[in-house]
Amino acid sequence: MGAPQELLEAAKEAFENAYVPYSHFRVGAALRTARGTVVKGANVENTSFGLTRCAEQSAIQAMVTLGERDFEELVVYTESEPPSSPCGACRQVLAEFSPNALVHMVNRNGVTVTTTVSELLPGAFRLEPSA
Ligand code: THU
Repeated sequence: MGAPQELLEAAKEAFENAYVPYSHFRVGAALRTARGTVVKGANVENTSFGLTRCAEQSAIQAMVTLGERDFEELVVYTESEPPSSPCGACRQVLAEFSPNALVHMVNRNGVTVTTTVSELLPGAFRLEPSA
């Protein structure tokens, strides 16, 4: 299954805006919310490396800031061969909102791998408050 063109273009725009002076590894993400809004995210690195924010997490933060809670599809665009998949931390952040969402991993050659958030992170942590 191919990635939707509109989301792919948005992910490429975010890719161009990535701030990556340390790794030089750009990641662009774009998601479509349940209301149909396209939201972008880029990775933003920091001189204190542990403060780096992944592209997928940037997109989720932007989505919530816009007042939305659900997304239906996400494109992650890199120049990797094969296309990069979301890191473990990103998988948990994505699962917080939309476990059933489609995730399309795409590279510059157009190679596309499509899966879902729950396939990427089976058994995601859920907080079950004790009585
Ligand atoms: N990165 C992401 O943006 N998403 C991921 O899922 C994995 C890694 C970024 C973080 C860092 O800026 C660069 O890729 C290299 O790890």
